[in-house]
Order: sequence, then C-alpha cells, then structure tokens
Amino acid sequence: MASRNNGFDSDCMTLTRFVLAEQRKIPTATGDLSQLLNSIQTAVKAVSSAVRKAGIANMYGLAGKENVQGEEVKKLDILSNELFVNMLTSSFKCCLLVSEENVNAIEVETEKRGKYVVCFDPLDGSSNIDCLVSVGSIFGIYKKLDEPKESMVAHALQPGKNLVAAGYALYGSATMIVLSIGRGVNGFTYDPAIGEFVLTERNLRVPPRGDIYSINEGHEGAWDTVIKEYVRSKKYPKSGKAYSGRYVGSMVADVHRTIKYGGIFLYPATKSHPTGKLRLLYECIPMAYILKEAGGLASNGNIDILEVVPEKIHQRSPIFLGSRDDVQEVLQYIRKYQS
Ligand code: AHM
Ligand code: MG
Repeated sequence: MASRNNGFDSDCMTLTRFVLAEQRKIPTATGDLSQLLNSIQTAVKAVSSAVRKAGIANMYGLAGKENVQGEEVKKLDILSNELFVNMLTSSFKCCLLVSEENVNAIEVETEKRGKYVVCFDPLDGSSNIDCLVSVGSIFGIYKKLDEPKESMVAHALQPGKNLVAAGYALYGSATMIVLSIGRGVNGFTYDPAIGEFVLTERNLRVPPRGDIYSINEGHEGAWDTVIKEYVRSKKYPKSGKAYSGRYVGSMVADVHRTIKYGGIFLYPATKSHPTGKLRLLYECIPMAYILKEAGGLASNGNIDILEVVPEKIHQRSPIFLGSRDDVQEVLQYIRKYQS
C-alpha cells in the first residue's frame, strides 16, 4: 500500500532502508556495514546542520591552528571532525580511523573495535566555507586485513580496489549523500521534514563524454606542458565546440557536477605540489571508486587510482577523473609526452 499524494510518498526509499535491502541480498552479511553507514549518516546530518547555521552560530572563521598539512583549520573543520570521529567510534564497527584533520590514524579502543577501517575528510573545501559555497564530506570504508600487521596503520594502507564502500556528502543547495557499496552508485537527498535521506538518483551513470573541463586555471603557470596543451585543446578545438570551464574549488561539488553532466576534473601535479594537492586515502581513492562504479574513470596520470598502493596516510596524488572518453583523452596526451 503506497500513496504519493501532496508530495508525500508513504513508501519512500530512505538510505537506511536501501542499505538494509542491499544487506539482505548477501546471506552472510552481519549488518555491521549497515550500522556503520548509519553512523556516517548521523554525522552527515549534524555536519549539514552546522554548515547551514554556521553564520548564526558564529562558526565561521579560523580555529587558530594548522592541520597536518600546515593549512589553516576552520572552526567547522574541527566540529565536523569531532562528529565523524565520535559517531564512527561509538558505532562499535571500526578499528581504525584516518582523518584529514588528525596527524596519526586513530586506533579505536579495544572494547569498541569492529572490523572496518574508515578514511575520511570530514569537511572538504574549507576555503569555501565562509562565503557559503558548497562544501562536502568524503569517506572510504575498508575491511581490516585478515593477516596481523606490525602496526595498525597498515590496515589503512590498502589500494582503492579493496574498498567495501565509499561515498560523499554534498552540502549544496540541498544536502545529498552519494554512496556506492560496490553495485553501482545511488544518490539520496536529505529531506529535513522527516530527517531522512531519500533515494532521488537511482543508479547514477557518468555520461561517456562531456563538454566541461574543471581545473584551477590560476595555476596554469605551474602546470606541465602536457596539461597546458590538453586544456588548450578544450578551449580551442580543431573542430566542434569549445568545452565550458567550471571550477568550484570544492572537490565534492566539482566531482558531483562531473558525474551528473559529464566532463573531466583535473588536479595535476604543479611546481608547488609536485605530487598533486589532493590526498589519496580520503579524497582521490573514494572519489575514484564512485566514478568507476558510475561508469567513469579516474587515473593519477599513469595508473588507475584504485591500483595505487598508499605508503602514507596523508599521501597526495595527481588526479584526472570523469567521463571515460575525456579521461582517456588526457591520458593519451600524457603518454604522447612521456614517449
Ligand atoms: P581541503 O581539504 O583543504 O579543503 O583542500 C581540498 C580542496 C578540494 O576540495 C578542491 O578540489 C581543492 O582543494 C581546491 O584546491 P585549489 O584551491 O588549489 O584549487
Ligand atoms: Mg580535503
């Protein structure tokens, strides 16, 4: 029995319901991942609320310290990190957490430990917070390795192809969670009236080619020649229409647009960031996983991002992600220049 009158769907597919239904498809599933995803949902709801009332609650501005990367930390960064760490720790499903905001990986106390490792950026795109431009949260979930390791952190240094699930939350004109648990990608919009994320984007697919490129053009002087050539070819094509340029400067917003409209997002190595700016474990790998699950591609310029074996938790990587044909084209340019 279901009705859809007056904008009310009495049988709507919430994120919790969706995850439970997916869990039921796997007879051996314990429900641990479902509970873990519930904790992430709670953290996202709280971060969303904080982002939306930050101006009123005097939450804009700097916290007065620097993070592991030597970048200034905003008050909202700290609050969002506390929310993620507290919700994940109290889920009893994690043993190790890697956050952009913590120098070291957080080992969950023994009595609260579960089998999952979560790598996350609690609030990405900090430079956009104070001017009300979209920001986001990013997370990747691994299972702890079966074999014992000398140090716990080894359990987080897994290639992206080992991910069990990954997703992001976008705090844009609406709040949305985009999630993959390895069988495609689905988007859930937050309905504040019922306090639930509701399935609005079923089986998201990236168009095979787009007509948008997304890169910080202010850094052109610091790009390799091949990147300059590639971007130039999009602006001054030998045939057809020029691509549009779009760059929010919040990875979640730029990637979400890329999934919806197609095209390519690039954060290459630059002179000041010779290994790229974006972090492998909690920015590049989860986004690459989502893109691939949605039919797109993500590469570091040489290999698939999901094949890279991380060596350090805060390691950076260049990234080229988006529509299959667009990413293949930039890789052809890179190969041509390498040879
Ligand atoms: P952050 O984690 O400190 O917020 O930095 C990551 C952000 C990404 O969201 C975005 O893609 C990139 O930095 C923008 O960098 P730039 O300002 O160099 O273009
Ligand atoms: Mg970040």
